[in-house]
Amino acid sequence: NVHATKPPLTIRLCEPRGFCAGVDRAIQIVVLALKKHGAPVYVRHEIVHNKFVVEALRERGAVFVKELGDIPPEHTDRPVVFSAHGVPKSVPADAEARNLLYLDATCPLVSKVHKQAMRHQRLGRHVLLVGHAGHPEVVGTMGQLPEGAVTLVETAEQVAGLQVPDEDNLGFVTQTTLSVDDTADVIAALRERFPALAAPSSDSICYATTNRQEAVKQAALGTDIFLIVGAPNSSNSMRLVEVAKRHGAADSMLIQRAADIDWNRIGNAATIGMSAGASAPEIVVEEIIDALRERRNVTVDIALTAEETEMFPVMRSLRDTPLTGD
Ligand code: F3S
Repeated sequence: NVHATKPPLTIRLCEPRGFCAGVDRAIQIVVLALKKHGAPVYVRHEIVHNKFVVEALRERGAVFVKELGDIPPEHTDRPVVFSAHGVPKSVPADAEARNLLYLDATCPLVSKVHKQAMRHQRLGRHVLLVGHAGHPEVVGTMGQLPEGAVTLVETAEQVAGLQVPDEDNLGFVTQTTLSVDDTADVIAALRERFPALAAPSSDSICYATTNRQEAVKQAALGTDIFLIVGAPNSSNSMRLVEVAKRHGAADSMLIQRAADIDWNRIGNAATIGMSAGASAPEIVVEEIIDALRERRNVTVDIALTAEETEMFPVMRSLRDTPLTGD
């Protein structure tokens, strides 16, 4: 029946969702550097784990490189920005050796974890880092300390087999974007095996990760499917997909753009949960809601669990550059 009205659909839209203060700051740093210095501005690694953001910055003149050595010699007078995930100490040292002007967009909450790790070491402790192997944040945090000073722990199962230099002198930190619940399990297992284990002065998991997971947890029950806007290499986004499933969503999936919507999987869902990882722009959330509206009579319910007021200022050298206008 072509005259049929669109079936109703309720979208439970989590708040807070999407950009965190660290991502916002990192993007601003690239935009302001382009304004101040003109194009090209080099960026080491994806500034934040989102293609949409990376493409938009590329169009404005940002050039993404894997390593500082990939910057062509004729461009070594151009600024280079380090990504929000943080970098090993060797990277700024290498930039200095190459006489590069660098702007460090490491999130202040990642820098805080770096300081927590260094403090453990200063107090004579071997550092256990709870995190995912290969993630740039983990590479950056391990690279704050000399080779061998940090042991990575990925799961609670791994704890029994861990080899450490001195069981009585251990401290832990974690990646900022882990699952709050899984991390609690890993830390409990570590504490059981190493009762003297020292905690960092405050939680390493950041406010944005905690708030986004909590919002999804509260909204998940009763949803037919939960859509998380984000990229597969975004740790915090992947965790939201797991949290939705674990807390009662019948199904959950990661989605990068409206074009990725799997209409078979949506089926005749009556209630869809939705959130976005800390590196996913709101414009993509809107694009997906618009696509759902084309087929359904959509009602958006905001599922608010926390107010966020965090804002991280950019470095002094860029503060006088206006973000808008020419
Ligand atoms: Fe920082 Fe947390 Fe965002 S560590 S970059 S505020 S996800």
